Amino acid sequence: MKKLYVKTYGCQMNVYDSARMADLLAPLGYGPTETVEDADMVILNTCHIREKAAEKVYSELGKLRQLKEARGGAMTIAVAGCVAQAEGQEIIARQNAVDLVIGPQSYHRLPEMIARLARQGGHALQTDFPAVAKFDSLPEPESGAAPSSFLTVQEGCDKFCTFCVVPYTRGAEYSRPVAEILREAAILCGKGAREIVLLGQNVNAYRGQGPDGEIWSLARLIAALADIDGIARLRYTTSHPRDMREDLIRAHRNIEKLMPYLHLPVQSGSDKVLGAMNRRHGREDYLRLIERIRTARPDIAISGDFIVGFPGETDHDFRDTLALVREVRYAQAFSFKYSARPGTPAAAARKQIPDAMKDARLQELQALLSEQQDMFNAACEGRVLPVLFEKPGRKKGQALGRTPYLQPVHADGAERLIGRIAEVRIEAALPNSLKGVLLQKEAELI
Ligand code: SAH
Ligand code: SF4
Ligand code: F3S
Repeated sequence: MKKLYVKTYGCQMNVYDSARMADLLAPLGYGPTETVEDADMVILNTCHIREKAAEKVYSELGKLRQLKEARGGAMTIAVAGCVAQAEGQEIIARQNAVDLVIGPQSYHRLPEMIARLARQGGHALQTDFPAVAKFDSLPEPESGAAPSSFLTVQEGCDKFCTFCVVPYTRGAEYSRPVAEILREAAILCGKGAREIVLLGQNVNAYRGQGPDGEIWSLARLIAALADIDGIARLRYTTSHPRDMREDLIRAHRNIEKLMPYLHLPVQSGSDKVLGAMNRRHGREDYLRLIERIRTARPDIAISGDFIVGFPGETDHDFRDTLALVREVRYAQAFSFKYSARPGTPAAAARKQIPDAMKDARLQELQALLSEQQDMFNAACEGRVLPVLFEKPGRKKGQALGRTPYLQPVHADGAERLIGRIAEVRIEAALPNSLKGVLLQKEAELI
């Protein structure tokens, strides 16, 4: 058996793609390994979203080159994902030890490329955009499914925010047909998944061909998935505020299996910055949207993404972001320093913000966001919540799981409950997780 080592950077869509690449290579005799030293094939599934993420790949490739040389060249190195798409041939020029460069829409062609390399040697490059073909040629996963499993339903982005590389690396929006998604969900479920997380760069823009010939929205897809018995929980990410339609908001009230958690990035609280980012909505639109969502589902946990130091962002603009955060009260959030990406309009803007100022703003924003997260978690102390246990914890017998609000929880004695949902009393909110105590006897488990 040949050994395959996959290292994944970036978003959940890359996590999903990495698993699918491993599925594709299994029939060729590749089995997974956790140690790069004994790998016959290494795939770096890369992310181009910020400079740091992209640069990491080259330092990793430097290390892999040494490893490959030490083994007399007996190692195939592939670069997949968004850096592969953005930089293509440039990667091979910068690091000659790379054998294969394969974009995120082309990985179904891996087996064919590997065969060609074995025949001819040299390098192989594939960065076309046939997203349809990619999903068509996926084999059924061979391994078991995680209790919480990802399922990509939508790819690509047509929004062209001025800071973002995704429309260039993942191409135009494409929604997978409903029947294909239902089939994959049922397979995942049969292999042990209890929760399905629907993925897309703009997942709430989903418009897939339904079996009835109509175009289905994400809300309609979620309703159909909720009818699959074995599925206990549904989530979706990432959403854009402009695509948050009424039927999806209503789904949060009407579909019990849809978890009360919504990742809805806003990036900035300043109308001027939002305009320059081409987000195509204002600060008030977002706040009103959050209000409507909370009316439908009052306990919903709201999460977001923020960028500080976007070109031209003044102190006043930044204060607007802080004020928006105070108004929304986030359960959780991610925040980043603006990183100028080659080829994006914002990278060419004149008023770039000095790094020290970005640092100071990021620190201030993160302090506020983590205060809000602590508050949200502290408010759960004493509550009894259903927890889906996903994996063993650090201590013996312990397991880690998630509440409906996506908070990580650890509970003693729960290891035997992995893959199941149990009632847990939240005892304490610790900095990175909640401490819970199992309530039910096994017989009463959901
Ligand atoms: N489709 C999602 C975001 C995908 S990228 C949306 O529209 O919200 C994930 C996050 O990375 C973004 O929400 C943004 O906060 C951040 N990001 C994207 N490009 C960036 C850049 N050039 N610099 C810093 N952060 C960036
Ligand atoms: Fe990037 Fe904007 Fe598309 Fe999100 S909506 S992926 S931030 S271009
Ligand atoms: Fe990164 Fe590509 Fe995802 S740039 S965030 S891996 S879509």
